[in-house]
Amino acid sequence: MSALQPVTPPAAASGWGERWARQVDRWMTSPALGQWAGRSVFTRWLVKRRSRQLFDLMAGFVHSQVLLGCVRLQLFERLAERPHTLDEMAQRDRIPPAHLQRLLDSAVALQLLEQRGPGRYGLGPLGAPLAVHAGIRDMVEHNATLYRDLHDPLALLRDPDGAQMHAWWPYTDHQDGRSQAPAPANQFARYSALMASSQRFVIDEMLAGHDFSRHRKVLDVGGGLGGWVCALARRHPALALMHMDLPPVSQLARQRIADQGLSARIECHPGSFLHDPLPPGADLITLVRVAHDHPDAAVRRLLRAIHDALPVGGELLLAEPMAEVEGQPATPDPYFHFYLLAMGSGRLRSPAELMQLMTEAGFDQVRRLPGHQPVHAALLMGQKTRCLPLSTGASVNKE
Ligand SMILES: C[S@@+](CC[C@H](N)C(=O)[O-])C[C@H]1O[C@@H](n2cnc3c(N)ncnc32)[C@H](O)[C@@H]1O
Repeated sequence: MSALQPVTPPAAASGWGERWARQVDRWMTSPALGQWAGRSVFTRWLVKRRSRQLFDLMAGFVHSQVLLGCVRLQLFERLAERPHTLDEMAQRDRIPPAHLQRLLDSAVALQLLEQRGPGRYGLGPLGAPLAVHAGIRDMVEHNATLYRDLHDPLALLRDPDGAQMHAWWPYTDHQDGRSQAPAPANQFARYSALMASSQRFVIDEMLAGHDFSRHRKVLDVGGGLGGWVCALARRHPALALMHMDLPPVSQLARQRIADQGLSARIECHPGSFLHDPLPPGADLITLVRVAHDHPDAAVRRLLRAIHDALPVGGELLLAEPMAEVEGQPATPDPYFHFYLLAMGSGRLRSPAELMQLMTEAGFDQVRRLPGHQPVHAALLMGQKTRCLPLSTGASVNKE
């Protein structure tokens, strides 16, 4: 539906539930009741908690810039070596001590740093992972682009094609015919390096979530620089592996795989899953952080191609961040909703939506696998239990 078409208002919901929700709205917005709730011993804890949550929401943009400031000053790596004094850091970073102290004290408040005596700072509980994982620091730096795109959220909603984030992901233009011109190779290298540095957490989640030793040959579609297939090769020495990605990325992956001495174990297949056949022979196909980059029509086509490429009994493992993983909207959801909008393609889907798409593509026994950190990726598994009539290759451009 075009955004400019007149919208017919939906019929008003009726019934007991709706009337109750409207009554609660009236209570929650009543100034008199608000004042009473703030004073009453029974409710003031709730009022306090909500005020705090709302303030944190309003101030969230400052929090993320405090984080970015710390990353740019390499504070986490430096403080992991030893605590530093304010004067020491101010001198090194050429920032007036009184100004730098605001950043450091803000980072203490956000648990990124910890005060270790007067004017002395060390790592805080939330800073420790940032010191250890370059992938998180890379994402914080990368998010500076999203931050610029979000400075006017309504402009982004009205014209996502104007987002700077769009330029980061050349394949989003090609899949829907917006551009025919080949993107420069360095654009593929840039996003691939970012993905490789943030993939570690997803790899851990997948290795813990499924027993890969019962497979013979695994194909990773949209495999980036090959971090996942290399991790599988090292963990399961009997497993044969295949990797498929767009030609510029496949070329980079082939080099990385060779650098790790794994060329004999991992075949690289350059190609587009939207236009080329998937290499046959795998009894497990993995799709890691790929579906959310693509519109429904492309995902339908890809899932069907995966189903066609598997033997009966073969399986698909799909891993990516998903909406409402615990059954209700969660705080990571807004990040992915807006990231994918600025990126210019795809959308955040719930496990139920993805399971529906997998089922439509022909998969049976579609289920969620247990996972510890759904913010990195939730895992879905499905099995091919029967052959379907060969797919006709529906156009991906009609979304
Ligand atoms: C978000 S990245 C994820 C990479 C990797 N799976 C990971 O988790 O780090 C999506 C990957 O899909 C690849 N891709 C996008 N469109 C593709 C297509 N039409 N055919 C093959 N690969 C594609 C991209 O080049 C990129 O490597």
